[in-house]
Amino acid sequence: MDDLIKQAAEDLASASKVTALTGAGISTESGIPPFRGKGGLWERYDPMEIAHIDALMKDPAKVWNILVKEMKVDTANPNDGHRGLAKLEKMGKLKTVITQNVDGLHQAAGNTDVIEFHGTFAWLRCMDCSRKYETREVDISQIPPRCICGGILRPDAVFFGEMIPQDALWRSRQVASDCDLMLVVGTSAVVQPAALMPIVAKESGAKVVEINPEKTPLTDEISDYLIMGAAGDVMNQIIEKLEQIS
Ligand code: APR
Repeated sequence: MDDLIKQAAEDLASASKVTALTGAGISTESGIPPFRGKGGLWERYDPMEIAHIDALMKDPAKVWNILVKEMKVDTANPNDGHRGLAKLEKMGKLKTVITQNVDGLHQAAGNTDVIEFHGTFAWLRCMDCSRKYETREVDISQIPPRCICGGILRPDAVFFGEMIPQDALWRSRQVASDCDLMLVVGTSAVVQPAALMPIVAKESGAKVVEINPEKTPLTDEISDYLIMGAAGDVMNQIIEKLEQIS
């Protein structure tokens, strides 16, 4: 792994426009479970039962109960993986983070340009009048929380069966095709269209570097190399090496 850490630091040192694509794996060290693989949410729940728009419409209280209990909406804090990407931004390397996560931890760590591809849990939206509320301003012990119009509030996140926000999709394609290095951190790269972004970057001539304890469908097809490890530990080592050579 040391050689790959050194390689990644050298590639970052020579890169001018870095983009990151992140998934649930970068937040596992903050206590938020992944969706797939060992300990994944979808091992315990049927995603069509709790993360599909039809399920939310049918039984909002059931969806709310599980999401709040499992997603640690209001208690999780950034970890070294998030902080490492924020440091890369401060070093003038990383421009944009495209995240599939709805936890707001990249912004909490200090990244300023974060595309929330699947929306966010930091905001709620009324299912009747579309009024928006900041989640931390709402008493989510009352399940499901209600709008002043009486409507039910839902997370402002993308559920299965819903479209990706057009501006997020458009901007993600733009930054993916514009970067010269894409860090792909903690995603199983099986959910579309997010998993398309490393391919867009590769086809536009960028280097693609994966950080994940496991291989993904990108590893042997698209990625230049995979650093097999936990995001927090790997990002710490890369930043340390980068600071030495910069
Ligand atoms: N550091 C880095 N990667 C990790 C870590 C870690 N500490 N722990 C786990 N991983 C990796 C796993 O090996 C796996 O490849 O993170 C990945 C998590 O994959 P998923 O759980 O499938 O999460 P993600 O890719 O973000 O899922 C995409 O699917 O269910 C939907 O909307 C949901 O945004 C989500 C989308």
